[in-house]
Amino acid sequence: MTDQIKELIKAAKERAVKETDSEPEPALTSAVDWPVDCKVGLGLEGAVACETTIGYVNGSKGWLIYRGLDCFELSEFSTFEETSYLLIFGKLPTQKELDEFKAKLGKYRVLTQEEWDAVNALPLGKGHPMSDLRSAVSVLGLLDPTSEDTSVEAETEVAIKLIAKLPVITGIVARTRHGEKPLQANPDLSLAADLVRMMSGNEPTEEDARVMDVCLILHADHGMNASTFTSMVVNSSLSDMYSSIVAGIGSLKGPLHGGANEAVLKTLEEIGSPDNVDAWYKKAREQKRKVMGFGHRVYKAYDPRARVLHPLAELLSKRDPKIQSLYEIAVKLESAVISELGKEKKIFPNVDFYSGIVYAAMKIETEMFTPIFAVSRVAGWTARVLEYLKKNRIFRPRGIYVGPAREEYVPIDKRG
Ligand code: ACO
Repeated sequence: MTDQIKELIKAAKERAVKETDSEPEPALTSAVDWPVDCKVGLGLEGAVACETTIGYVNGSKGWLIYRGLDCFELSEFSTFEETSYLLIFGKLPTQKELDEFKAKLGKYRVLTQEEWDAVNALPLGKGHPMSDLRSAVSVLGLLDPTSEDTSVEAETEVAIKLIAKLPVITGIVARTRHGEKPLQANPDLSLAADLVRMMSGNEPTEEDARVMDVCLILHADHGMNASTFTSMVVNSSLSDMYSSIVAGIGSLKGPLHGGANEAVLKTLEEIGSPDNVDAWYKKAREQKRKVMGFGHRVYKAYDPRARVLHPLAELLSKRDPKIQSLYEIAVKLESAVISELGKEKKIFPNVDFYSGIVYAAMKIETEMFTPIFAVSRVAGWTARVLEYLKKNRIFRPRGIYVGPAREEYVPIDKRG
């Protein structure tokens, strides 16, 4: 079964290679001589904030690289644990290093009684699960006596703790929302398989475990996106790793960022049937609505993550006629968007477009899609925070003041 997943990823990679080449962009891959000249647009578009060896997104060709390895290769051959090691430590681990890393992740995954009681005492399930996750990570920070140590060594250990503990908290959040008993981790399972188990309450099939693993690999890092930058900005004041990740979770929650995967599924459900796609799309364009799951600040080509997730969504959709219908709507919507916006504005599906169908086929509730994204992205957030910490300089851009200057102070009884 997992061989079939491997074959689908290999075919996606071959399609990508045929349509693009992988020449790096010199301006984005050469050493920086600070201060750097760059043209900055609104939303810091085009701004250069740091040098990094962690990851590279070639937006015009549609390539995503972690530490020199392309995301197709990693999703075909790697695991989330190995990819996290790669991101944090900068190289693929030896067998011994991987075994030790997995053992450490397994140890941290089992929450201590104090952590378990504190997280479960939170008023979970009253708001969005991302708010639950944000609060729970904050509580873990309160309980960790090492949290105020901002040395690279201490923050690296906290990074590993967070990679281990986010799936457990996500499981607790997923189950307590519906009054179901939360489950402790099972360190004998892979992180991805255990995540599925702790959310659903059932042992995952081999297929579900591997698909979740691939999803986690694909979402683990993506350049200086809003949540990564947020985490780095917070840590640049030498705050602490927990505060940085709490902030990253807050940023990822938004519908223009990680929250788009939820919005995609709601859109597909709103469309209702493949026959309604053309009329829905025409109306959306007339109303100048953004089509969720399309467009990207960096990609002006097909997002490689969507290339991998598309065939996985097709595979899993065969399980259930309702999901199959959502998949068919998605394919038709993709073709409508690409034939207009793809040509005019280089707008293509992004990572969020097919991930929702994959998770829905695994019977995961829509509101839990973004927390799963956070379970994965914490590897990239922490890796980039640690890298920047080694040559830290506090982030401090300027806002251009366009208000009035030096007006006279008018006492309150003289104001009109
Ligand atoms: N549907 C329709 N039109 C779009 C879309 C879309 N999804 N995305 C961009 N456009 C159009 C804009 O209307 C704009 O048109 P204009 O030049 O006529 O005004 C142009 O393309 C440029 O779009 P901006 O919003 O300025 O691009 P920006 O780089 O600021 O935003 C973003 C990128 C936020 C991802 C945007 O494409 C969007 O809102 N997409 C939908 C939400 C989404 O899927 N987010 C997930 C992104 S991936 C991630 O964060 C994990």
